[in-house]
Amino acid sequence: MHIGIVGAGHIGQAVARASIKAGHRVKLSNSRGPQSLVALAADIGAEAGTVDEAIAFGGLVVVAIPLKSYPMLSAAQFAGRIVIDTGNYYPGRDSAITFLDNQTTTTSQILAQQLPGATIVKAFNAILAAQIISHAKPAGAPGRRALPIAGNDPTANKFVAQFIDEIGFDAVDLGPLSESWRIERARPAYCIAMDKARLEATVARTSRSDFVPEGSWRV
Ligand SMILES: NC(=O)c1ccc[n+]([C@@H]2O[C@H](COP(=O)([O-])OP(=O)(O)OC[C@H]3O[C@@H](n4cnc5c(N)ncnc54)[C@H](OP(=O)(O)O)[C@@H]3O)[C@@H](O)[C@H]2O)c1
Repeated sequence: MHIGIVGAGHIGQAVARASIKAGHRVKLSNSRGPQSLVALAADIGAEAGTVDEAIAFGGLVVVAIPLKSYPMLSAAQFAGRIVIDTGNYYPGRDSAITFLDNQTTTTSQILAQQLPGATIVKAFNAILAAQIISHAKPAGAPGRRALPIAGNDPTANKFVAQFIDEIGFDAVDLGPLSESWRIERARPAYCIAMDKARLEATVARTSRSDFVPEGSWRV
């Protein structure tokens, strides 16, 4: 499969490396242009392109940029694409967003509203970038880590779950994007390694008031 990645930082690079290991082709992009990515792309085994080229390339497109940069994405370019949203809301980085602070929307619903012609699937937001490589295991391996996903189109969710399986993880589908608050920053399932059964149980019992201490997932 061809995978276009918008954002070539921690998460974009990790998804690129995992995708190539699984046999996919990757085009990486960032805001500074392909010239800034030549060495990195060569090291990863990916191609470098502009943001528009990466989106056009991808049978699957991955958005791996800070939430504060979402307004710069062009809806027309993403029309008709399945788009993985890896984003998280960090108010210190992204500035305060009232509708997230008062829990009336989710980060992925914001992206879906901005890119109405795209099919958004939340994925890879709840794993630290380096662990996309270090925690990968073959299908059926004991204790294999599961990653949560959410999206409004069940077929697209299955497509992304298949991709996640190929790169080394089980997937737990939470259903529509409106449920993705359960896996956002500082929720009990956020960036904590769990197998499928434990992840399913954890997201099912997460309530609107459940948060873990800020940064505790990094220890
Ligand atoms: N780091 C993690 O472990 C991790 C894990 C899960 C989820 N996430 C989430 O994933 C998102 C990205 O995080 P990150 O850690 O990968 O960030 P990062 O290392 O700072 O990388 C951000 C990348 O986005 C690019 N970018 C920014 N604005 C852009 C735009 N308008 N168009 C194209 N590219 C743009 C940057 O390129 P330039 O330098 O050229 O601007 C850079 O390559 C965040 O929402 C984060 O919360 C991160």
